[in-house]
Amino acid sequence: MSNRDDLEVVLAPTDRGRDVWEQAATNRMCPRCKRSYSAPPMPGVTHMLCDECMAADESARRDRERDARATRHVLVTIPPRYAWATFDAPEFAVRDPVATDRLRAASADRGIVVLGPSGVGKTTLAVCKLRQCVAQNGSLGMFVDVRRLARAARQHPLGSSSEVPLVAESIRADVLLLDDLGEERGADDAVLDVIRDRHAQDRPTIVTSGHALTMRSGIEVFGQRYGDGIARRLFQGAVVIELRLPPP
Ligand SMILES: Nc1ncnc2c1ncn2[C@@H]1O[C@H](COP(=O)(O)OP(=O)(O)OP(=O)(O)O)[C@@H](O)[C@H]1O
Ligand SMILES: [Mg+2]
Ligand SMILES: [Zn+2]
Repeated sequence: MSNRDDLEVVLAPTDRGRDVWEQAATNRMCPRCKRSYSAPPMPGVTHMLCDECMAADESARRDRERDARATRHVLVTIPPRYAWATFDAPEFAVRDPVATDRLRAASADRGIVVLGPSGVGKTTLAVCKLRQCVAQNGSLGMFVDVRRLARAARQHPLGSSSEVPLVAESIRADVLLLDDLGEERGADDAVLDVIRDRHAQDRPTIVTSGHALTMRSGIEVFGQRYGDGIARRLFQGAVVIELRLPPP
């Protein structure tokens, strides 16, 4: 037998097979979009999505995976004390309905500042908002305590704060919750870098602080401490929520 014959022997059944396959292709109806499409017969398979619907399913699956990754990421950085905090959690008590509704409906795009006295629930509300942003946009959210950020920068041997991993991550996160602004020791460059760089890159930051009770005093207090440029970046265009202790 020549090589050619060999080839024919090998190829022939496949070719014939394809012909048979194509001739037998039947019209099916996609159970999702109800369009008809042609597909080879598959014994036992009665309901099969068309290619377009299958591709849509696949892309939805990838989106869900990405959201789950973002949710896992944000969960890792949220302190366990606030692990429960979402707007819809059964533990969540609406203390200030107006402020809560405003925050819940607010766009985080130009930043959010939550002000108020200690214990009023600033961090709790801010965590709820962070989680909401992550769930709605599949964005990468991160929680960072400003003291921790400043400490990480202080303790790092490198001179430039942008080389400190926690600082770099804080700048990179799609949405950052910067908790307790003003509580850090010293006017650390790291905190300023994070606020400035995030603002320059249009990345929203949610800030909580007990160092001011109103936007007016916040602009003054933070202006004095960090400079007017930082105060402007914090407050201009931002949604400012002023929480008050309930009357006794
Ligand atoms: N909406 C809420 N529903 C239920 N519990 C809440 C709510 N808000 C706050 N708490 C509880 O009250 C306590 C104080 O809340 P939180 O830490 O959010 O206050 P804070 O304003 O951030 O305080 P600080 O200025 O000391 O950081 C926490 O134990 C928290 O679990
Ligand atoms: Mg707090
Ligand atoms: Zn379809």
